[in-house]
Amino acid sequence: MPSDLPAALPIAYNVVHLAADDHRQALIDELMHRGDRIVDAIDSLIFVQGTSSPAAWARNSWLAPAEYRVGSIGEAARLLASVQRNWHLHSISHHRRAQLIADKLAPIRFRPLGFPAPVPSAPLGVFGLLDRDRLLASPVCSSAFADGRPVFAEDREGPPNRAYLKLWEALTLARTQPGPGDVCLDLGASPGGWTWVLNQLGADVIAVDRAPLVPELAGAPRVTTHRGDAFSLTVEDLDRRPDWILSDLIAYPERILALARYWCRACPQAGIVITVKCQGAVDPAEIDHFLAIDNARLRHLSANKHELTFFRLPDAGPPEGASRRP
Ligand SMILES: C[S@@+](CC[C@H](N)C(=O)[O-])C[C@H]1O[C@@H](n2cnc3c(N)ncnc32)[C@H](O)[C@@H]1O
Repeated sequence: MPSDLPAALPIAYNVVHLAADDHRQALIDELMHRGDRIVDAIDSLIFVQGTSSPAAWARNSWLAPAEYRVGSIGEAARLLASVQRNWHLHSISHHRRAQLIADKLAPIRFRPLGFPAPVPSAPLGVFGLLDRDRLLASPVCSSAFADGRPVFAEDREGPPNRAYLKLWEALTLARTQPGPGDVCLDLGASPGGWTWVLNQLGADVIAVDRAPLVPELAGAPRVTTHRGDAFSLTVEDLDRRPDWILSDLIAYPERILALARYWCRACPQAGIVITVKCQGAVDPAEIDHFLAIDNARLRHLSANKHELTFFRLPDAGPPEGASRRP
């Protein structure tokens, strides 16, 4: 950094987590449960001294935060630009002044994503003003998306509901998708948003639900339907071992945990994506049970409501997700 720019101030925290919408308390409980010390909180931002890794209920984790005393808008912009090109403003206070800093930085175009599309590889930092002359900036964040929220160019014609966006986001973060020749077991498939995504990718889908798929999907090539209880299905019931197991079943977390454990054990090479629906207040110990599964990751997706998404992928899963403590 050029010597005429201000040096970082001493701070008492090493990570700032941005809570998922409506899940600030769940994030605080999770952080405390994993032993992080909460130093401060401003709206949805939780400042901690502790584990420098993503949390399940965080939309984005700022992993290299630093504070600077800045004398002017120009100085703040020069300081940021001297670190890296791409910065997203997460406005905390002095919003107009913060926007004037953002206006002086290189523009970034956030175009809606297609699917499938790669996660952007360019580092995206985040900054905001804590006070008129106090800049908070983190060049390193857990997510490559502004405030951890990928925005997709939606398909309003093809899918039967909006659940497809959840799987688009999950498979984008997975950085791998099923393709032609892969067998996908879609548990809790009705009316068919996820089956539609998998079918579009050219995979073979076994769609399991007590309720029917929409007729266009039930009769689609490469889609086999299985009406019945998804929890009693085992790998022996299938003609081919699945390459992917995906579940959006609505059930208590304990049942979903047993389901995740079963399929992870039964198909050790498969990619696994499972929605974990939460009921009321979230017990942070439940997160530990899921993360105790080898290579597990857990993340609240932008498309998730009061639920988390569990990943167990051959290549370790999305780095944005929480993982077992080192
Ligand atoms: C959130 S919906 C799934 C939406 C679906 N992923 C989509 O994209 O359209 C949950 C589904 O789980 C199914 N379900 C719940 N319990 C089930 C069980 N024990 N066996 C089979 N299906 C079940 C429900 O019938 C419902 O269709």
